Amino acid sequence: MPSIESGALSPPPSPLILTQDELKKIAAYKAVESVQSGMVLGLGTGSTAKHAVDRIAELLHQGKLKNITGIPTSKKTHQQAVSLGIPLSDLDSHPVVDLAIDGADEVDSNLNLVKGRGGSLLREKMIESACKKFIVIVDESKLVAHVGASGAMPVEVVPFCWKFTQNRLQSLFDYAGCVAKLRLSNGGVKMTASDAILRLAGVVEHGMFLDMATTVIVAGELGITIKNK
Ligand code: 5RP
Repeated sequence: MPSIESGALSPPPSPLILTQDELKKIAAYKAVESVQSGMVLGLGTGSTAKHAVDRIAELLHQGKLKNITGIPTSKKTHQQAVSLGIPLSDLDSHPVVDLAIDGADEVDSNLNLVKGRGGSLLREKMIESACKKFIVIVDESKLVAHVGASGAMPVEVVPFCWKFTQNRLQSLFDYAGCVAKLRLSNGGVKMTASDAILRLAGVVEHGMFLDMATTVIVAGELGITIKNK
């Protein structure tokens, strides 16, 4: 059973109304408190993870963190980290990652996730499954009773004959009233199939991240909640 800690926001929220982006930043900064000098870090993708990458760079430049190696989970994060001067590497050189910090699209009470609506789920899953610790950072709007029960489930497919794969996905999930839609992302081909986890020749990866997160930090109007596996 995940354990839960709660804490007041700093400064106390009342009567301040925080924007969603401010909540994301609070969760990100809290997660970066777990970063230590010398770590190999998985750098997440999305508007929440972006705050964490900014904060890591800030602490590096202030000399409060030293000898950090980042492994970006997308081209976008790679560009951000390069522009901020964070030293980078990859899983070939660093097959074990000390800590990854990333956002999520959905989080349930067992710390299962849906990820990838931002478009980089394969790299994210590769890096985050190589982590000793994986901290997920979200604002409270991402909390759900059951992951994958509503909303879009990202599924990445190979570009080769993607229409064939789309049709097979569609026929698998017709009965559930799901629609497999194409979207292009990061130069690859992705489909969005609601309410489904898909395993099929031609499918590269899906956005269910089950039993991977070790900690989830949730920032809400009433404070921060930290859930540990
Ligand atoms: C990218 C992701 C993101 O972490 C997820 O989409 C959340 O994004 P944001 O922090 O912008 O709400 O999985 O593939």
